[in-house]
Amino acid sequence: MEFLKSAADLEALRGRLRVEREKGKALTVCCGTGCLSNHSQKTANALAEALERAGMRDRVGIKTTGCHGFCERGPIVVVEPDGILYQGVGRKQPEKDAEEIVAALAEGKEPVKRLLFKSLESKATVEHYRDIPFYAKQKRVALRNNGIIDPKSIEDFIARGGYSSFVKALGMKPEEIIGVMKDSTLRGRGGAGFSTGMKWELCRRSAGSPKYIICNGDEGDPGAFMDRSIMEGDPHSVIEGMLIGALAIGGREVPIEGYVYVRAEYPLAVENLTLAIRQAKACGLLGQDILGSGFGFSLRISKGAGAFVCGEETALIASIEGKPGVPRTRPPFPAESGLFGKPTNINNVETWVNVPAIIEHGAEWFKSIGAPGNGGTKVFSLVGKVNYTGLVEVPMGTSMREVVFGIGGGIQKNKKFKAVQTGGPSGGCIPESLIDLPLTYEGLAQAGSIMGSGGMIVMDEETCMVDVARYFLGFVREESCGKCIPCREGTKQMSDILERICAGEGKEGDIETLERMGKAILAASLCGLGQTAPNPTLSTIRYFRDEYEAHIRDHKCPAGVCKALIKYSISKENCAGCGVCLRNCPVGAITGEKKQTHVIDREKCVKCGACREGCKFDAVIVE
Ligand SMILES: Cc1cc2nc3c(=O)[nH]c(=O)nc-3n(C[C@H](O)[C@H](O)[C@H](O)COP(=O)(O)O)c2cc1C
Ligand code: FES
Repeated sequence: MEFLKSAADLEALRGRLRVEREKGKALTVCCGTGCLSNHSQKTANALAEALERAGMRDRVGIKTTGCHGFCERGPIVVVEPDGILYQGVGRKQPEKDAEEIVAALAEGKEPVKRLLFKSLESKATVEHYRDIPFYAKQKRVALRNNGIIDPKSIEDFIARGGYSSFVKALGMKPEEIIGVMKDSTLRGRGGAGFSTGMKWELCRRSAGSPKYIICNGDEGDPGAFMDRSIMEGDPHSVIEGMLIGALAIGGREVPIEGYVYVRAEYPLAVENLTLAIRQAKACGLLGQDILGSGFGFSLRISKGAGAFVCGEETALIASIEGKPGVPRTRPPFPAESGLFGKPTNINNVETWVNVPAIIEHGAEWFKSIGAPGNGGTKVFSLVGKVNYTGLVEVPMGTSMREVVFGIGGGIQKNKKFKAVQTGGPSGGCIPESLIDLPLTYEGLAQAGSIMGSGGMIVMDEETCMVDVARYFLGFVREESCGKCIPCREGTKQMSDILERICAGEGKEGDIETLERMGKAILAASLCGLGQTAPNPTLSTIRYFRDEYEAHIRDHKCPAGVCKALIKYSISKENCAGCGVCLRNCPVGAITGEKKQTHVIDREKCVKCGACREGCKFDAVIVE
């Protein structure tokens, strides 16, 4: 790694690296957390050995990358530059899979069919990842390098154009950079959607020295993993975004330092960011007098212990200062008095990685991608009852229908779509009647939800909306720091009522009490946790009131989820006597001879649903 004394040194290095890398084919093996959990490192090793045996190591490169977004299909291997995507490589037989992939490459044969993606509808195999619907309809800006570069190699990042936006920003005045950010209409991707340019301007104008900038990588929403994937897969873009932010906010006049706050449960993100910071320092891209420009910036990592509330900016600041991670009232806002009482700017991981792209291509380009006032793209973690789950990046303003059906491939097992929960525990549930809603900050707010950091949980007809509200309120009740009474006591009271309703002990008036309390907690809580905690309950009451009423008045759970309100039986008409339910039942509550109708003993039945899940004939009925 060489020390770069000027922008010209960086360009010269980039030129050399590009020549070196124009070698021909490469196998990129996903080593993001999802694929690693499916032993993708073994897959990478097996591919390297197979290339060695075939004498192809000098002709075909092998590269480990961050997350490609299609984690449920991992380990993912892509043959570049052809773009052939193999899925599930090495899940069961790494050596065999590797041998066949390499043989196909060596002999210029057809790709290995059994490892290709298969269309759900036509069952045809799809070779190129750009033709797979999950990828075809995405637009990758924040995820532009994920799955392409080796996150452990600064050289790979530089060869792909890395740090050139920072060099461009070095030639701009701070006000000019802020102007571009404002014009781009980039809004904070961490939840509130505040204009990034305006936030930078406030911090720039605040008196105080030194100044701080922070990257919020706390990502506490259950099911969300977009920030983790970016930190793991493209850590240098986070650094580059922060360098540009530091230049705009502190300039060369005021000393400025940075922190990346990452939850400790993200060990690979911590590892890759630590390495990236070390590499950037060694190359002279962090530290004093960067590239001989007179501008200096240092960056360090602060590990969070995993409390959801520590993602809230004032709690996060307290946590970095070594104090208990609890929020405080604002004002003063961090821009005036933040970390160690100094002007501080906090942005989310995804916000920071958009910055170099905006500086490179310009504000107009970014604006043209999204919707009015909502420039650019948004990454969602699409999970739940949808056919294809994973990380999905789409232009702002894309409809929910496009995400769920166009990219996600619709609902599993052809069940009926019911709702999408967006924004995690602070968000709400959007019903089918609003599925054509454009995904913008305003669109989601109108529907009673929020963009949040981009969690998107798809629900089908077998999801109980009261149970969903119960789950999220239970989560925020546990995560409330307890500092303010409306949140501490209010979430407990609401959660107790929801627990009671799901246990079949709901009372007339419960719905109205939930609505009244929810509105009071929203209005009176100290921080964003309490101010949004009732959202899932209020939105499910707004759109699915009949389900609450069925639980309370009829003692029924229409979706067949709340155990206290349901009974299982087996339909004589549908049962084929295959015995799957009998084998699946963990408590031996099912009896029946082969090819005869089976029977459930309700005394023994624990209502776990294993029989229903396994039945191919829809013979298990929930009453
Ligand atoms: C309870 C709570 C948790 C939050 N968690 C996160 C988080 O994990 N990541 C994040 O970027 N912002 C989180 N936020 C929002 C931050 O307070 C802050 O608005 C954000 O980091 C600002 O960055 P942005 O302008 O780029 O969105 C949370 C807010 C609240 C109230
Ligand atoms: S970790 Fe490999 S696709 Fe996400």
